[in-house]
Amino acid sequence: MSGATAEVTGTAGGGVVHRALAAEVTRVRGLQPGRPPRVLDVGGGSGAWAVPLARLGCEVTVVDNSPNALAALHRRAHDAGVHHLVTPVQGDVDALGEVAPERGADLVLGHGLLEVVDDAGAAVAALTAAAAKGGAVSVLVAGRYAAVLARALAGRLAEARAVLTDPDGRFGADDALRRRIDAAALREMLEANGALRVELLQGDGVLDGWVPGAVRDGSPAAARAVAELEGLAAGATPLLDVSARLHALARRPG
Ligand SMILES: C[S@@+](CC[C@H](N)C(=O)[O-])C[C@H]1O[C@@H](n2cnc3c(N)ncnc32)[C@H](O)[C@@H]1O
Repeated sequence: MSGATAEVTGTAGGGVVHRALAAEVTRVRGLQPGRPPRVLDVGGGSGAWAVPLARLGCEVTVVDNSPNALAALHRRAHDAGVHHLVTPVQGDVDALGEVAPERGADLVLGHGLLEVVDDAGAAVAALTAAAAKGGAVSVLVAGRYAAVLARALAGRLAEARAVLTDPDGRFGADDALRRRIDAAALREMLEANGALRVELLQGDGVLDGWVPGAVRDGSPAAARAVAELEGLAAGATPLLDVSARLHALARRPG
């Protein structure tokens, strides 16, 4: 399947991210009509984003340091009939240049990556170096303030306080994430070395934890209404600040 109207249907994020990626793919096709868009998905895991992008006709290279994740990606790409478009590569974002050419990708993804790596700034620099001039870097990160509210709502007040006050937004030594990021910090991180300009900063999962499951799952019409509301809320500053995930699309000027 390919085409501008097809939806990117990854499972790790919501409709607003899907829409932004599909629009970027359409943009690349318009600029380079003779070849498939080249996507590099760093920390791509089992292909929640890579496989839908391949289904849009992109050539996707997935770099991940986990052999198990890459094995799952291989099965998923096969099942979706797009294995010929997906190249799994075992590698680390810290040494991305060894496995992915500099300026080689039209679209570079780092979804669910910046919160788990040792050095988020170095990871951003590596993602940036892999993007072609005029290309885009898409990052999706765990939102800090949503985690504060979720813990407060669950009565875990000490954790809520820690996530709010800890410099890295962690609730303690047992926290699986190395950091949680707010919208202002994400913009600053992406634009820090002057090589990227943030074009889109939006909330993904703005209503996660707020709309009761019985409403969301009540009917297809209700699910659509929630998705539409999330789409409208994604760019509303106070709401994007408390969304479950923050999504940014930043461009490397041509
Ligand atoms: C939370 S998962 C996100 C997977 C996928 N991007 C998604 O959004 O569904 C994080 C992925 O990053 C990979 N990862 C963690 N540290 C990494 C590193 N230093 N270099 C490359 N991949 C890494 C993990 O193996 C895992 O597959």
